[in-house]
Amino acid sequence: MTISDQSKHMHRAIELAQRGLYTTDPNPRVGCVLVKAGEVVGEGWHARAGGPHAERVALTAAGVAARGATAFVTLEPCNHSGRTDPCSEALIAAGVAQVVCAMRDPTPWVSGGGVEKLTQAGIEVDVGVLEDEARMLNPGYLSRALRGRPLIRSKLAVSLDGRTALANGVSQWLTGEAAREDVHRWRARASAVLTGIGTLLADDPALDARLGDSTIDLRHPSRIIIDSRLRTPLGAKTLSLPGERLIFTRASDPDKAAALAAQGVAVERVGGDGQCDLREVARRLGELEFNEVWVEAGPRLNGALLRAGLIDELVIYIAPLLLGNAARGMFDLGELTALAQSPRLMLDECRQIGADLRVIARPANVPDA
Ligand SMILES: NC(=O)c1ccc[n+]([C@@H]2O[C@H](COP(=O)([O-])OP(=O)(O)OC[C@H]3O[C@@H](n4cnc5c(N)ncnc54)[C@H](OP(=O)(O)O)[C@@H]3O)[C@@H](O)[C@H]2O)c1
Repeated sequence: MTISDQSKHMHRAIELAQRGLYTTDPNPRVGCVLVKAGEVVGEGWHARAGGPHAERVALTAAGVAARGATAFVTLEPCNHSGRTDPCSEALIAAGVAQVVCAMRDPTPWVSGGGVEKLTQAGIEVDVGVLEDEARMLNPGYLSRALRGRPLIRSKLAVSLDGRTALANGVSQWLTGEAAREDVHRWRARASAVLTGIGTLLADDPALDARLGDSTIDLRHPSRIIIDSRLRTPLGAKTLSLPGERLIFTRASDPDKAAALAAQGVAVERVGGDGQCDLREVARRLGELEFNEVWVEAGPRLNGALLRAGLIDELVIYIAPLLLGNAARGMFDLGELTALAQSPRLMLDECRQIGADLRVIARPANVPDA
């Protein structure tokens, strides 16, 4: 098979994996294509945790045609029994002749084991076809495996002069309908939407995810509130919406915690000097199997997250209006006295969404997973 044919089939496997964008969490998005004598004989993708993995779906679709085929998989096949049996064994049992995977799975429970098992069974294995593209399917899963914390993206809606809210706190809505729909797609792909108590008290935001496409069986992202003093009102809108709700706090207030628990809201105490230790929060979110976390907070929490090196990506919507110098900024960073102290960013993307601009940037000092 030529390199261009290999790329074509892996590209298709990546397209299939993308169908799980909103549903596989906490599992990775994975696609698989089975090819025999130049013809595609089976395709599959992983749709939902607990459901069959991409390789099994493709093997079932191919039936006996899988014997002697080449499997293109976007991630190293698993080699452990979880809710389903190992895919490496299924590929061997089906008599697949060759496996081409885009990348190894760095999680400790796979990490090379799938490739080894296949190779021991006499199957030829190639790794690394379209690896960069495949990595982009699962940035949060990889972050959790390699750094022990989720990928953290922070969204800010700002005026063209970089302001997030009026001095009196009013910020809804700076951006137009198209940008707000875009935000719903980012929320929907995230494991959790995280906010600060400042935003919760000022805006009482819903923070749920709504997609226009009713064919997608959406998994509701969890909502996380960073609230050192446990001031979250019991009637906060986001607490009444479906999906897990979790508050990180420094406070010990058993009555309030019990009232929240009665509403199904979990409260976890974390360390910290007065305020919540955000690195501890991030580690805990990794333990809880959150892959991608989408932050919608004000300048205080955003400033603290940025200073702690916990923001991997900024998604900034810039609305064509001006709020003036009395309005609030994006990040509380204290007073900088030299440009050398200012966090540097790398721009990844700039595009127009409706009447607004969307800029995606990465803090330069936060290493990728
Ligand atoms: N334009 C936008 O995209 C956008 C998005 C969201 C919000 N906003 C606006 O932002 C404003 C609220 O901003 P805000 O800065 O007050 O609220 P915030 O950033 O949402 O929340 C800040 C609060 O988080 C708590 N916190 C806990 N641990 C922390 C830590 N380690 N570091 C920092 N904070 C910690 C603190 O309260 P405790 O000490 O009590 O825990 C702090 O006051 C509102 O006007 C809202 O409309 C704008």
